Amino acid sequence: MKKLSRRKFIKLGITGGVVGALTPKRGAAKTLLAPTPPETEGPFYPVTPQDDKDFDLTRIQGRDGVAQGKHMIVTGSVLDNHGQPVPQATVEIWQANAKGRYRHPQDANPAPLDPNFQGWAIVSTDENGEFRFKTVMPGSYPASSTWVRPPHIHFKISKKGYEELTTQMYFPGEALNETDLLLNQKSPSERLLMIARKRGPSETEALEVYEYAIVLNQKS
Ligand SMILES: [Fe+2]
Repeated sequence: MKKLSRRKFIKLGITGGVVGALTPKRGAAKTLLAPTPPETEGPFYPVTPQDDKDFDLTRIQGRDGVAQGKHMIVTGSVLDNHGQPVPQATVEIWQANAKGRYRHPQDANPAPLDPNFQGWAIVSTDENGEFRFKTVMPGSYPASSTWVRPPHIHFKISKKGYEELTTQMYFPGEALNETDLLLNQKSPSERLLMIARKRGPSETEALEVYEYAIVLNQKS
């Protein structure tokens, strides 16, 4: 399995989390990437079984419609602390729809459900440790009378031999990131590791693409 190049690290935006040099000198401590910070699972982990949990959250099998909101691609890599891709890792996401509503019986937000939004997906990373989802930009939603959560996607990543990670991915340039009570419990360097990088749309990509690198801790 090949190591990712420095260029790839930079592209994925994870150099800020590197502990030590990428190319250690003889005798230097081993290079380690900082793990992606964990975050609470929150109250809306899916509890209602659903058949369709494929990578495309904008369509539900058997329905003609498409999800409301801005469609986009979320892609990235799962890596270990040494920068090695982690193939066949299970990557699970769940999120609010474009109006900020979860398909969950405990979500009291009066915002409407979207019958065409899948809301929940589970995929495996490929041989290069990469994953890809098509989804919608999640809406912000009130967590209390004084706190509005910024758009975010919940992630749970697991692979035998690694510590399971539950976290939340945020979007760059969102004003609500500045006031979020969860994100602001993190240090500046941790926050960098939790905010995706935007690319596109371009001539070859009709949709905006958000890249997110996830670093797992190996079990000792
Ligand atoms: Fe949430």
